[in-house]
Amino acid sequence: MAGGERVREPRRDRAALARALRRYGEAPLVDRLFIRARAFLSDFTFIEPFVPRKGFVVDVGCGHGLFANLLCEASESRRVLGVDADPRKVGVAKLTEREGLRFELGDAIATPPPPCDSITILDLLYLLPADVQEELIASCSRALPEGRTMVVCAQEARTDPRYLIGYAQELVATSVGVTHHPFGGFHYRSREDMVAALARHGFVTDVVPLPRRPYTDAVYVARRVPH
Ligand SMILES: C[S@@+](CC[C@H](N)C(=O)[O-])C[C@H]1O[C@@H](n2cnc3c(N)ncnc32)[C@H](O)[C@@H]1O
Repeated sequence: MAGGERVREPRRDRAALARALRRYGEAPLVDRLFIRARAFLSDFTFIEPFVPRKGFVVDVGCGHGLFANLLCEASESRRVLGVDADPRKVGVAKLTEREGLRFELGDAIATPPPPCDSITILDLLYLLPADVQEELIASCSRALPEGRTMVVCAQEARTDPRYLIGYAQELVATSVGVTHHPFGGFHYRSREDMVAALARHGFVTDVVPLPRRPYTDAVYVARRVPH
């Protein structure tokens, strides 16, 4: 199973992102500011179109739930469950719950995702040691029927000043306690290594680098095949 690469600029639903942000009206100011910053720094409208428009989506490590909210705002045919291990972030995410959108506090390693139609994992894997990443990818593979898609967004480890910028930013986020980080250290993978890890668990992956970003982020669009 080889991973190919293609670059394309998807249709962006900026109006859906604006609606998603408005869902946080009841959240404390500090969280609203954080979520706005996340919306500015993360290219969620680039990533969203790679997620199937219909069915039950599980967003693993959903944080405050902004991407889960965007998924729902961009397509009414998605039902979304966001899961995160940080009680404060899940508490804020829960303020935005409505029909078709739920959040749960949970450790994605201890509690594998439920059977679903697609899975998203944005900016989580680097917090997990390689063997734990494998465990999570394996449990995601078991949760997805063949032919379904998992979308992973992760910064690529490579020799590039933009990799250092992303690394430094995460160093700040974890040291001030903004990001739940139980294992310590960062565990970024090269693109080849990530595609190989996904292939070991039955995924064939297209890689789409995020354009015009100060980081080496890439979207891995992984399709579950028989293995
Ligand atoms: C950098 S944040 C990304 C949040 C969100 N995906 C986004 O893109 O805005 C990483 C998230 O992973 C969560 N996390 C870390 N380890 C986890 C685990 N074992 N299970 C579930 N969530 C976890 C953290 O609490 C944090 O919210």
